[in-house]
Amino acid sequence: MNLKIALLEGDGIGPEVLAQSVKCLQAVEDTFNHQFTFTKAVIGAVAISNTGRPLPEATLELCKSSDAILFGAIGELEYDNAPEAKIRPEQGLLRLRKELGLFANIRPVKVFPSLIENSSLPKKIIAGTDLVIYRELTGGIYYGKKNISDNGAIASDICEYSENEVGRIAHMAFKAAKKRKKKLTLVDKANVLETSRLWRRKVTEISSSYPEVEFECLFIDNAVVQMMMNPSEFDVILTENMFGDILSGLGSVLIGSIGLLPSASVGLDNAMFAPFHGSYPQAKGKNIANPVASIYSAVLLLQHFGLYEEANAVASAVQKSFVKKVITTDILGSSKYGTDYVGDFIAENIANSDEDLNINDENIGLGKSTII
Ligand code: IPM
Ligand code: MN
Repeated sequence: MNLKIALLEGDGIGPEVLAQSVKCLQAVEDTFNHQFTFTKAVIGAVAISNTGRPLPEATLELCKSSDAILFGAIGELEYDNAPEAKIRPEQGLLRLRKELGLFANIRPVKVFPSLIENSSLPKKIIAGTDLVIYRELTGGIYYGKKNISDNGAIASDICEYSENEVGRIAHMAFKAAKKRKKKLTLVDKANVLETSRLWRRKVTEISSSYPEVEFECLFIDNAVVQMMMNPSEFDVILTENMFGDILSGLGSVLIGSIGLLPSASVGLDNAMFAPFHGSYPQAKGKNIANPVASIYSAVLLLQHFGLYEEANAVASAVQKSFVKKVITTDILGSSKYGTDYVGDFIAENIANSDEDLNINDENIGLGKSTII
């Protein structure tokens, strides 16, 4: 398969983690005879310094003309410490999502048996966790009209949803549930918010087309408690933009490190794959960031194009890194392995996913991999 992939490294640890997923995709290319063309473009704080804009037109054009986008991370400390800044890195990501119509953000949260000890929650609570969050991504309070009074004393953000916006992601989420554990939980605040009542009405209506899927509704405050206490009770969680942002943060705590989780943002014509995590500017250039979330984003990319064998080869190479404890310090404090080394190890193992190779750590560490 020929795929044109746009690489948006972004800020902080973005470039270093993205480089690892590119290594893995190149290993897939060589092993399975595909042709992937990678083209880089700037977004976020780096784009603001280079061009004055968080999403330059050239970046948007590249994304529109690519088959898929691999995204690193966005944000810099100078902006985190200045929430009043008018031009912000996040605006680049928000506009990109909107322009590309990436209305569904899909965030799988699955416990890795080999890393179960790493969660800050007791093993008996998180064992068996395998859920996926379907977060609406191009509507709601993120995109509603914003206002601030002249004297700055009163501000507002409008939250608006249409039936159409709710319906398209609801169908997607029910179809996913049908293929999984056949349960869908709608998370809302329908006891207070009009938009939530619209979600509940529309999703309840749609649920009758999927009789094999058990459908339940939870208020957001209860949902966070249930997710912490009984995460294995969930299958597909469907929710609006802001609640989805919060629930996915919580999801990453369950797993033990935010550095492990990937996400896919899909629309009708485009798809973007990115880690859950932010740009972690404190770790920038230190070669300590966990590359697995980015590598798993590449797995989601491969799955998106139906390349399941390839996706499995990457996923099992990641599993092997867990089993062999070739992992970064966020998971194992005493680990001596850095971002690059873990990326090399995983890429090296993609070609040999079915065999238990006698891996020569030394060679990988020295960059003498035969694949890359
Ligand atoms: C995420 C991020 C973004 C969001 C920010 C960077 C705008 O937190 O993808 O979860 O809130 O959607
Ligand atoms: Mn977030």
